[in-house]
Amino acid sequence: MEKELNPSMFIGVGGGEIISFGAGQPDLPPPKEIYDVLHNAHNNFRYGLIQGNENLRAALSKQYPGSDKDDFIITNGASEALDLVLRVIGKGGGKVLLHKPYYYSYPPLVRAAGLEPVYTETINGKIDLADFKEKIKDCKAFLINSPSNPTGRIQDVETLKEIERITKEREIILISDEVYKDMIYERENYLLSGPQVVTINSFSKTFAMCGFRVGYLYSNDKSIVKNVIDLKTHTSMNTNTLAQEMAYVATTVPKEYLEKGLKIWKERRDLICKGLKDMGLDFWKPEGAFYVLPKVDNPKKAVLELFEKHKVITYLGDWFGAPGRIRLSYALDKEKIEEGLKRIKEYLGK
Ligand SMILES: Cc1ncc(COP(=O)(O)O)c(C=O)c1O
Repeated sequence: MEKELNPSMFIGVGGGEIISFGAGQPDLPPPKEIYDVLHNAHNNFRYGLIQGNENLRAALSKQYPGSDKDDFIITNGASEALDLVLRVIGKGGGKVLLHKPYYYSYPPLVRAAGLEPVYTETINGKIDLADFKEKIKDCKAFLINSPSNPTGRIQDVETLKEIERITKEREIILISDEVYKDMIYERENYLLSGPQVVTINSFSKTFAMCGFRVGYLYSNDKSIVKNVIDLKTHTSMNTNTLAQEMAYVATTVPKEYLEKGLKIWKERRDLICKGLKDMGLDFWKPEGAFYVLPKVDNPKKAVLELFEKHKVITYLGDWFGAPGRIRLSYALDKEKIEEGLKRIKEYLGK
């Protein structure tokens, strides 16, 4: 029987000789300032506000023009924010449009909320506006992710503005998963905004705090905010208060922290792109985040053999709606990237 492959085979796997191009987990250190919070941990054993710590919400609202701290809900990572908002809008069913390739959790989350995922294709990882306009017609929401996991592509500002305009006009909810918005190599971020926009973000990637599980949802739609709080009251209740304090401190660190990180990510991007190109592999150049999605022959065999024979973890493109490809996360130091590339070259027999 053919071996079944799924992401849980690789999540948390590593160490020893293994080179993992698997999980999207930044390896750079979080801001050192956040550790100071641990000395005051004695204040943090009580239940917290369901909506999230006020100081953190106030700090976030300064980053979004025209927002108020009460428009934010602090969640257990972007994952919980996505789950809660989809369940809130899921009442009565309907369709949610996703652009392919997509983050692998989107279809299961959409279905779990009683909604139906439908798809718009992309051209070289860029949304095809003609196809988008056709598919969006009978949808309740569009879930956009720019920069994208798994392509690393960003959507053009003109495309974003058009999507903003169409969804506003037709009162379609625009869920914007912006967990990589601080990791763009090519231009400044364009912040999607408007009454129809639900912004999702996280401290996992920008501040390398994946395990602390702090994310957030921001919306000007008071009923969405209220309904999400109501649901969270009966599910996870508050997000970890100590982790929220650390996240608050992260919002106060000098912007050099992000600039330094971005420089390192860009160097790694260039290194891995050169290596893959030298092997003759076809891929879209990542413009943000830290993923690249090359085409390979027989991707299932590649993922299995790379792991079993070469101790290299890669993810199967099919998990992201990208058949014929494998995903590599380059959240690794340069030496490991070089070693991993060497082993991929051996696998390819080049
Ligand atoms: C596009 C995207 N959204 C959401 C998440 C989940 O992030 P969090 O750790 O904040 O739950 C990830 C994690 O890889 C992601 O890539």
